Amino acid sequence: MSRYRDNAEALRSLVQDRQVHRDVYLDLEVFALEMERLWARAWVYVGHDSQVPAAGDYITADIAGQPVVMVRQPDGTVKVLRNRCAHKGARLVSQPSGNTGRFFRCPYHAWTYKTDGALLSIPLRQGYAGTGLEACPAGQGMGALRHVENYRGFVFVRLSDEGPGFRDYFGATLSSIDNMVERSPDGELEIAGGVLRYRHDCNWKMFVENLNDTMHPMVAHESSAGTAKELWADQPEDAPKPMAIEQLVPFTSGYAFSDEMGVRVLANGHSYTGVGAVSLHAGYVGLPEYEARMAQAYGAERAAQILATVRHNTVLYPSLTLKGAIQAIRVVRPLAADQTVVESWTFRPKGAPDTLLRRTLMYTRLINSPMSVVGHDDLHAYRAMQQGLRADGNEWVSLHRNFDANELGQHDTTANGTSEISMRNQFRAWIRYMAPDFNTGDAT
Ligand code: FES
Ligand SMILES: [Fe+2]
Repeated sequence: MSRYRDNAEALRSLVQDRQVHRDVYLDLEVFALEMERLWARAWVYVGHDSQVPAAGDYITADIAGQPVVMVRQPDGTVKVLRNRCAHKGARLVSQPSGNTGRFFRCPYHAWTYKTDGALLSIPLRQGYAGTGLEACPAGQGMGALRHVENYRGFVFVRLSDEGPGFRDYFGATLSSIDNMVERSPDGELEIAGGVLRYRHDCNWKMFVENLNDTMHPMVAHESSAGTAKELWADQPEDAPKPMAIEQLVPFTSGYAFSDEMGVRVLANGHSYTGVGAVSLHAGYVGLPEYEARMAQAYGAERAAQILATVRHNTVLYPSLTLKGAIQAIRVVRPLAADQTVVESWTFRPKGAPDTLLRRTLMYTRLINSPMSVVGHDDLHAYRAMQQGLRADGNEWVSLHRNFDANELGQHDTTANGTSEISMRNQFRAWIRYMAPDFNTGDAT
């Protein structure tokens, strides 16, 4: 008998109000259940529709361990199909992106499919006459996912028929996507600069929890960001700051700064830091040309409001993390209990001067890329946890910081930035999704 699949009580015992059992990160069966029960029933980010501008353009992705392909249709809509041949199951599309023309063709026996997934042709089709193929799954084609949402260009899917609707699931967290889109004078974003894929030797939750962990930068990033700060320390006050210095130095801000950033947590595990005016992204030098274009597009007052929203990291639990103020996202693709791919994508806000894209690319290289000096600090910490948790004697991970019994049952709360409330909030959503008898009505 399995330890957790058939024992709801044992599974529930992994998450307590203020600590979680190490098996949530280490156990192989828990990982398999996460894919089935959380990742398949949650809304998971697939890609941005600007990645597939023309009919036949596609990108591939693995969602909850299942291969899918997102493809632009001749009518301009975007569909997400199961990337599996109806014949013997071969993955149809192997490339990360491309254009398939008017159909997909299986590399094994050349069955073809229209871009909406319908079966188009089979070589020597007469061989199937009278075999009943049409009535079987093999006759139905690739299968288009039913639960797909294109929110302002961001395409999400829910694999399972069970689970909340898109807007109920994300609620007010969508305002972080809104802000990033509205930072374009044209109200539109496009992916630019390619992707940086970065494999992490750790459980996916360690990365997602870290996004709103404001107690670590001044410690884990002391060697990288601290060095940048020291290098700059002797410069005169009015010396123009290079972009790299401007972006690295805020990571050394102290505990008081982190507390002031604040954190807001919402139902279903979502959260963001940088609730008000204080944020790691708040101190960048002004860009007069861009600000003028924004004022022209939205009016001075609205433009100022948009640019004053400087959230640090938003977690659209469990798959998408976003930095609106610098137009960059990181996408979480779990591979195994101790293997996670993190993808960094950058956006060009349409109608904005190129300086903005340069700033985004600089940030991504400096902080999020496989060559980053800062990202490696985090990776080291995740690996250290993945390994350290194997030590017996203490099987629990502490999430006690600023725990307050009043937070239980709250679905929209703001707290001081150094609180571990965002992690507790993620695990409350996690354990609800992990229950076999998932109940859509009870958001926690
Ligand atoms: S597996 Fe695709 S055509 Fe046979
Ligand atoms: Fe970090």
